[in-house]
Amino acid sequence: MCGIVGYLGKKQASQVLLHGLERLEYRGYDSSGVAVVDEAGDIQVRKKEGRVAALRQEIQENPAQGQIGISHTRWATHGEPSDTNAHPHLDRSGKLALVHNGVIENYLQLRDRLAQDGHEFRSETDTEVLAHLIGTFYDGSDEADGQLRLVGAVREALAQVVGTYGIGVIHEDIPDFMVGARLGSPLVVGVGKTEKFLASDVGAIVSHTQEAIYLSDREIVLLKPDEISIETLEGDLADYEVSTVDFTPEQAEKGNFPHYMLKEIHEQPVSIENAFRGRLADSQASAVLGGLNLTPRELRDVDRIVLCGCGTALHAAMVGEYMIESLARIPVEVEVASEFRYRNPPLDKNTVVFVISQSGETIDTLAALREGQRKGHRVLGLVNSVGSTIARESDGGSYLHSGPEIGVAATKSFTSQVTVLALLALLLGRMRHLSVDYGQKMLAEIRELPKKVEQIINQSEAIRRIAVKYNEAPAMLFLGRQFNYATALEGALKMKEISYIFASGHASAELKHGVIALVSEEVPSVFIMPKDSVYEKNVSTLEEVKARKGPTIAITTEGNSELERIADEVIYIPECHETLNPILSVVPLQLLSYHFAVERGCDVDKPRNLAKSVTVE
Ligand code: AGP
Repeated sequence: MCGIVGYLGKKQASQVLLHGLERLEYRGYDSSGVAVVDEAGDIQVRKKEGRVAALRQEIQENPAQGQIGISHTRWATHGEPSDTNAHPHLDRSGKLALVHNGVIENYLQLRDRLAQDGHEFRSETDTEVLAHLIGTFYDGSDEADGQLRLVGAVREALAQVVGTYGIGVIHEDIPDFMVGARLGSPLVVGVGKTEKFLASDVGAIVSHTQEAIYLSDREIVLLKPDEISIETLEGDLADYEVSTVDFTPEQAEKGNFPHYMLKEIHEQPVSIENAFRGRLADSQASAVLGGLNLTPRELRDVDRIVLCGCGTALHAAMVGEYMIESLARIPVEVEVASEFRYRNPPLDKNTVVFVISQSGETIDTLAALREGQRKGHRVLGLVNSVGSTIARESDGGSYLHSGPEIGVAATKSFTSQVTVLALLALLLGRMRHLSVDYGQKMLAEIRELPKKVEQIINQSEAIRRIAVKYNEAPAMLFLGRQFNYATALEGALKMKEISYIFASGHASAELKHGVIALVSEEVPSVFIMPKDSVYEKNVSTLEEVKARKGPTIAITTEGNSELERIADEVIYIPECHETLNPILSVVPLQLLSYHFAVERGCDVDKPRNLAKSVTVE
């Protein structure tokens, strides 16, 4: 996915755009560019391969002055990262500029047809084809007519597009007018009094305005510095509401932390509390999740649950499966969202589908949501980003309230997702057979989580020393059982995605079925083994690794000092209810991968090849 920022107002557009791109860089960072209409009424384009800092340098050396502009930071889909392939792209006249987030699936056919009409393309991108296509429909003359014609040209071009888009378009003939449109890629309008913004997400504009309009699919927005109008692709006027952004500019900054990822790890005591605040129902010894939009009767009738997600959200779903089945005895299926959308599983009318997503924009998870709704199921979202597409298209759900998560590696969103899933399991369980006493114990345990997570975070330096000790490891294994099987998968994902070493997670007993071939003196094995119902089995597995000279790092319950006798390193976490343990045991894994990657000189917040939210299929 990519990041788009547009600006119309009285400020120097290029400075507003650069600032916005720097806050969207987690969405893609292989190249970036701006296009502004300068005082002479000409389009000025500056584009650079590499991070936004390179573009900032370019603009400093070669200024682009103007009060309207669009900009883009790229995660390459078509065409390698290069100055030429960077956005914005121009039409054949060189007067229309376009930025695009998404994939034009039929771009080759469109390109061939345009080439037959004499169009020549500089880049390998699908986006340049769209710029040329819009240009073919635009033959504006005077300004008033030009606005209508530009909107019409955008509409006619998009009617020929197969794929997804979030776009911003300007034309030098109409120097205070911008068009935006979206289908499948997010786009939000920032509402200032005498200035307007267009962005892929509010993080880019929250320092300028807290008022935002979230565009829906198939909507086109017409922007002037003091006017907003929204239409549908079909040309009808569309209503819209202005929302207030639910976080401050400071929350979207790194503060005193060297990386967003470390800041977000440290935020977990607060973000976990935010996830359960107002949702603990002491009088009922249960939880309250009002946003589910399900009556108590409907909740009691639920006889099967599907949990869908990708990446870290999928791992949270796996913990949720164990929680709900354990506490509520309802059968739960976990589905990889990208599989669910094609797999066509047999589901009955009392099946509820949950989609889990931090960004609320992951296209595979959005597709799973739509597939579930297409089959008539209630689809509920556990989402962090307010106003995101998944949040708005769900039939209800619960926000995580984690605050913005900027680091590409998900951390606080995982512990918040698992916390909300624990609340759901408690709610469903207390509607069935869980006792008041059990419910009260769970509520007390949930309330203790922030303090316990804080205690673990305080061990960051000790965990850093372990990361340094094993920093030459070419690979790492993560092993856990029951509720911590998913934790092992999550720990492996963290390690691989920010340090680039091979890392894999396994159910501990699977070690014997092939995985143990990977054990060697160079490959550490991380065991998530709290003093729980399967602790003794984990000890046996650790012994098997030790017998083959594999280094072992054990995460266990504080006070359980016997492991110091057999493990090379021991990290202690506070005791807690078995179902909630992943919320604690994942924190040492987050810190281990963070310090390991920093020690290796990796870019923790913007790992190579990755983007924070995957809005391309
Ligand atoms: C996790 O660290 C990764 N960044 C990635 O797997 C992520 O969890 C996945 O893309 C899902 O994102 P979402 O929660 O925003 O849908």
